[in-house]
Amino acid sequence: MTPLATQQLIDFAYIAAIALFILALRWLSSPATARHGVLAGEIGAAVAVVTTFFNPSLVQFRWIAVGLVVGAIIGVPLGLVPMTAVPQRTAMSHAFGALAAAVIGISEYYTRIPHVTRFEMTEIALEVIIGSLSFTGSLIAAGKLQELLPQRPITYKGQNVVSLSVLGAAVVIALILIVRPTFPLLFPAMVVISLVFGVMLVTPIGGADMPTVISLLNSYVGLSAALLGFVLNAKVLVVAGALDGSSGFILSVIMCKAMNRSFTNVMFGAFGQLQVSAAGKQEERTVRSATPEEAASILASANSVVVVPGYGMAVAQAQHRVRELFDILTRRGVDVKFAIHPVAGRMPGHMNVLLAEADIPYDKLIDMENANSEMPQTDVALVIGANDVTNPAAKTDQGSPIYGMPIIEVDNARTVMVIKRSLNPGFAGIDNPLYYLDKTLMLFGDAKAFVGSIVRELSGGGHEG
Ligand code: TAP
Repeated sequence: MTPLATQQLIDFAYIAAIALFILALRWLSSPATARHGVLAGEIGAAVAVVTTFFNPSLVQFRWIAVGLVVGAIIGVPLGLVPMTAVPQRTAMSHAFGALAAAVIGISEYYTRIPHVTRFEMTEIALEVIIGSLSFTGSLIAAGKLQELLPQRPITYKGQNVVSLSVLGAAVVIALILIVRPTFPLLFPAMVVISLVFGVMLVTPIGGADMPTVISLLNSYVGLSAALLGFVLNAKVLVVAGALDGSSGFILSVIMCKAMNRSFTNVMFGAFGQLQVSAAGKQEERTVRSATPEEAASILASANSVVVVPGYGMAVAQAQHRVRELFDILTRRGVDVKFAIHPVAGRMPGHMNVLLAEADIPYDKLIDMENANSEMPQTDVALVIGANDVTNPAAKTDQGSPIYGMPIIEVDNARTVMVIKRSLNPGFAGIDNPLYYLDKTLMLFGDAKAFVGSIVRELSGGGHEG
């Protein structure tokens, strides 16, 4: 094959890989097509990697083979972590992606100096700063989510000024390097300062805000990869990095909107600390509670039930029991649907993934807007381990930290039943007035055990919860 024909074939394969990446993002946006999306992304990545082997400028394959073996040894166990550990696993993947981008940028710098143009130096400096800070930032995020590091926001007075000064120092060094790339010791200093900044960026943020932070770091890693694509003149890397960067950014925006929080609040607000004052207020008011038998009989006599799952369902791993409840109620002619709040749980799509794992049909899942329009005609809203995403204070209490956050308006259903272990607050650390309404019945207990008991009641005994 002539060199021209080889190049044309390589370009064609890269375009195919890019098309697959775009399709992957498209398909990932719906639970019904998400599996195709994952497959398309995997095939696209494989096509891009294999095509790169045919690049005529590659003459040495030994180190690539070593990299593939080491990557597979680390990657296979990472892919096998349980569902609940996916947020920290994702943070680790971002850390490795960022490390790869930073290390390649560092190697390009030392390979090219002293003959590096200002434009190239700008690309390399930006790419190495973003890659390095994303590397350490992602490691801290993974450590917080794995509870190896303290979950609480670690802050001190004047922290934001100190952190921004450190970032400013890295940028100033980058500017000096653009003018004088060989200035002694400045390049390693810039790398170290960027690594330190990554730690300072994420340490003050509460553990529960880590999913938003990871998504933001994801967009930084994408940006870094796109810049690396310019440095290496690799078009597929430019496009893949840009897709990664922009989709990560859009996801962070969606998450912030669904929580009614701004970026600044997530990054600098030290949110997620328990507001203990809320707990005291609960004691003064009374709630009505019910047993599994009572709950079972209310559900059995309903025509329509909307289940609202939340973080507690994930903690209790109750999704398979919920599926049994769905089956038994459906067999009895009850119309059962699942209302999914965009930030229920602790990571994007958390509830969708759990319900898919339990094979709940996709067409039974409804989004927040549809759920809210159906709620007034719903006999029972069954809240399973959700709290903030159902809190009516978000609509009514202007002083509430979640005021303005869109919620699933279960308080509009005819009867509300809430499965949780206590009256303790959820992520936002605030009391939930829903629990004190006349139409609300609290079903106190672990979600898996309680749903199991309801299922046992409905099936006339026999199943262990
Ligand atoms: P939360 O408001 O956090 O409430 C979860 C509730 O589950 C708790 O009140 C807890 O009450 C209960 N629970 C815990 N373990 C349980 C168990 N084993 N059995 C039964 N109940 C259990 O959850 P949510 O309503 O899903 O809201 C999510 C929150 O996380 C929102 O504030 C959101 O902004 C935030 N957030 C979400 C994301 C994403 S992307 N999803 C990212 C960052 C932050 P008890 O202790 O009384 O049982």
